Amino acid sequence: MFDYQMHSRILVWMETAAEELRRSHQRDLKIEEKKNAADLVTEMDKATETFFVQKIREHYPEHQIIGEEGINDDPVTDVSGTVWVIDPIDGTLNFVKQKKNFGIMLAIFEDGLPKAGYIYDVMNHDLYYGIVGVGVFRNHQILEPFKIQAISEALIVGNIGMFATNRGNSLALLTQSLGARAYGAAALEIISVLKGEAAVYYSCGLQPWDFAAGWALCEALGFKATTPDNQTLNLLKRCPVVFGNPLVHAEALQLLKETKEIGEINENS
Ligand code: IPD
Ligand code: CA
Ligand code: CA
Ligand code: CA
Repeated sequence: MFDYQMHSRILVWMETAAEELRRSHQRDLKIEEKKNAADLVTEMDKATETFFVQKIREHYPEHQIIGEEGINDDPVTDVSGTVWVIDPIDGTLNFVKQKKNFGIMLAIFEDGLPKAGYIYDVMNHDLYYGIVGVGVFRNHQILEPFKIQAISEALIVGNIGMFATNRGNSLALLTQSLGARAYGAAALEIISVLKGEAAVYYSCGLQPWDFAAGWALCEALGFKATTPDNQTLNLLKRCPVVFGNPLVHAEALQLLKETKEIGEINENS
């Protein structure tokens, strides 16, 4: 049975965190580089994750927490019991450079399996959540799965650098589709698949906090979320991921394993 008291708390926490992020645009923020100049962390990434970790510890001290910024100092080495996965700001570069096009992602797993996922498109005030066995909702309205029939009639979404360098054979997907779109935030790209604006989200390497909420939302909508070789995603490591409805997901997996001459790329791609 899904814990609706926990769900109600999460909704309140997401609203509070989103409001703080919107308000933070009014002041100068402390920004640090992680691996390079395009890999940033701001005081709001840390503050948002700290906020969630404190709330979870207060209400659910026995639960495990995985978060991008490592605020929880108790590393998760096995996925037994309830595991929370937090990406406090997905699209930090957009958050800094555009002050829009970023999200908050949170997911709940039970013994390694997704139970619920939350993605907040903060500047558009759109909160998506999915409860496995119940469905997916956008601002509390049920989201009907829109079944794209074939990649050739749709857009696909993913990271622009991946397509530009054909990482993970990604051009095989791009050339089959009408074109690729990249929003600089996995959160928003995954939402576009759930809404039927794009057929497939593909990444040849995502961290657990980047894919956990999307995985749970896909599961709740009856969509597939696996690695390109159809393996179950692993919450404890970086994985390549393919998200989409069962039809286009199967097509994407087939395309990704075919090494063939890359076809012509549509001029409007
Ligand atoms: C990044 C974004 C980006 C994706 C990267 C992620 P962050 O997350 O989702 O779209 O391509 O792989 O690391 O660092 O902004 O939370
Ligand atoms: Ca980051
Ligand atoms: Ca992320
Ligand atoms: Ca992040």
